[in-house]
Amino acid sequence: MDYLELYKMAKEAKNMSYSPYSNFRVGAAVIMENGKVYTGANIENSSYGATVCAERSAIFRAVLDGNHKIKALAVAADTEDEIFPCGICLQVVGEFCDNETKILCGRGNGDYVVYSLEDLLPKRFSL
Ligand code: THU
Repeated sequence: MDYLELYKMAKEAKNMSYSPYSNFRVGAAVIMENGKVYTGANIENSSYGATVCAERSAIFRAVLDGNHKIKALAVAADTEDEIFPCGICLQVVGEFCDNETKILCGRGNGDYVVYSLEDLLPKRFSL
């Protein structure tokens, strides 16, 4: 699967967003080292802190299926500007990435910009 296809899946996954509080729909799709793809969407909660972002819901699906190496992560929203994963999601990407991992940040008009984790989170916590 090429990156454009992955990004299209992230856009499609946006339709599964549960976001009655912010009305901000986010979709994500990850492709893992073995080629398997998992999608996610943001799932909000009336206790706002219990909200899970689209990126983490996709990554957690992959991990629960036994896959720990992200090849690429695509994120899509309805914004004109690029959408960047939040800091918590970047920290989670850091747990399951390598130097080759790509992060595709969508723009509402249908394209995306490719970054590395190093671009978006040059330093991160690790044990
Ligand atoms: N959100 C994501 O799903 N991913 C991000 O990278 C940033 C924010 C969600 C969380 C919340 O449901 C909504 O966007 C507004 O913050």
